[in-house]
Amino acid sequence: RRLGTADGPLAGRRVLVTSGPTHEPIDPVRYIANRSSGKQGHAIAAALAALGAEVTLVTGPVTQPDPAGVRVVPVESARDMLDACRAALPVDVAVCAAAVADWRVASSAAQKLKKAPDGDSPTLTLAENPDILATLSAPGPDRPALMVGFAAETEHVIAHARDKRARKGCDWIVANDVGAAAGTFGGDANTVTLLTGDGEEGWPPLDKTEVAERLARRIAETLGPAP
Ligand code: CTP
Ligand code: CA
Repeated sequence: RRLGTADGPLAGRRVLVTSGPTHEPIDPVRYIANRSSGKQGHAIAAALAALGAEVTLVTGPVTQPDPAGVRVVPVESARDMLDACRAALPVDVAVCAAAVADWRVASSAAQKLKKAPDGDSPTLTLAENPDILATLSAPGPDRPALMVGFAAETEHVIAHARDKRARKGCDWIVANDVGAAAGTFGGDANTVTLLTGDGEEGWPPLDKTEVAERLARRIAETLGPAP
């Protein structure tokens, strides 16, 4: 089908989703990154498209197939991801599911670093990356009507998620328990709590596709039909 021409409760709505890790170069052959399969973000993009939304998926390097009916913009670094997100605006909703690297190497090397004969190891100086969720959530003419972030936590899940929601200025946080008993990176199971301004909804353990479908339905209910 053509993008954005489908029927469904999100027909006529523009949506941005971030997914996957980012790769921050050390030199042309090495990088630092977060662990992320992109499963959850890609499933959210697919679920929103299935409800009729026109979806742009900005994704770091993953092995997931491109979801059907979604415009996919591949990126490497956090700064590239922010640029690609800005280029996708305006949107009605943005869902930031990417595991963005918090730091990049302050000055990555133009040539491959070589081992020193004396055994000295290089020292990497890090610089903080832009916060994409916080940047897109900041007040302004291009701010999406609904900003959704994720909080993957191993302990004090709800407390950390409440704090993140306030700090980043987003509307909703999907708090994700990645502790030992719950969902694990790269796995299929996910135990989430949705924090909106109006309350906190504990969802039963679901696989990532089901979390995506439930989140997409929840977004569609909240937005209502496009004007
Ligand atoms: N996020 C983002 N850009 C960043 C860092 C995080 O868009 N540079 C988004 C993630 O996509 C997620 C949310 O912010 O939706 C929370 O990410 P998380 O790593 O849990 O939050 P941080 O503020 O980086 O806090 P922490 O110190 O726990 O890593
Ligand atoms: Ca982080």
